[in-house]
Amino acid sequence: MKIWVLHGGEGPEREVSLRSGEAVASALLERGYETEPVDLRNRGDASAFIEKKEGFAFIALHGGWGEDGTLQAALEMAGIPFSGSRHASCALAMDKTAGKALFREKGIPVPKGIEVSRRGADEESLSGACLEELLERSGKLVVKPCCSGSTVGVSILDGPGGLGDALEEAFRHDGRVLVEEYIPGREITVTVHERHGKPVCLPVIEIRPRGGFYDYGSKYTPGGSEYRVPAPLEESVLKAVEHAALGSYKALGCRAYARVDLRLDDDDLPVVLELNTVPGMTATSLVPKAAAAAGISFGEFLGMVVENSLS
Ligand code: DAL
Ligand code: MG
Repeated sequence: MKIWVLHGGEGPEREVSLRSGEAVASALLERGYETEPVDLRNRGDASAFIEKKEGFAFIALHGGWGEDGTLQAALEMAGIPFSGSRHASCALAMDKTAGKALFREKGIPVPKGIEVSRRGADEESLSGACLEELLERSGKLVVKPCCSGSTVGVSILDGPGGLGDALEEAFRHDGRVLVEEYIPGREITVTVHERHGKPVCLPVIEIRPRGGFYDYGSKYTPGGSEYRVPAPLEESVLKAVEHAALGSYKALGCRAYARVDLRLDDDDLPVVLELNTVPGMTATSLVPKAAAAAGISFGEFLGMVVENSLS
């Protein structure tokens, strides 16, 4: 079976995707798979790839149509097998408001927040009581595009000052923006993958960004963050974290693998921020680190993703 590694894409995560694709293609090649990377620069390239109807598509496209279910739906229509979650799960994960609603319904803690759209009326609804409630926990706010990744367009505010600018910045990336309470505590992430048909967690990673905020620079610059794998957690906390990660994975009906990003608040309660159906796979990315900590090489991990995506 030939594996086409789809990467590139357009938008702010293109560079990350190119690096993810290169890493995936070389690890699969080393593992013995016939592999070819394909740079899909736009929807036209994606349609042309689909028309050829060959092989298995390993999706290493981050953000936009490569991760939000659009490409996945097109591949499903064409009967081309592909890696990771099906289109509906991808769409729900990419839309942070929808994802959070499903997590909350399953009893998984998520940050309080409100979605605003570009229309001024919504911004007005942010004033007063609602804003006070969001500021109650830490005095800080997080402003982020509803459907984006790699922390692009995200601001953390020390109070309500600067909200207008932060909204403007986030609106540059999406017409829908989330204003959330900031959860003080630790940044952790959990990769979920499948073994013998069951979702399981890889070792939890704690991220300590050198700049204080796990933003684009500290994510993709070697040495930009310090990682603790496995994260030092008490047994009961570890169980709660894994429970939240697995619950999130199941709530969205994911397939093969996903990465769940969380905060561990000052009372050690895990709060789920989001789930990524096409997580970064670059040399500094978290999924390969988690696999390595479990004694699983990157190639072996990818092989399992391929197999589990076919079943
Ligand atoms: N959106 C980036 C690639 C991630 O979640 O890893
Ligand atoms: Mg993300």
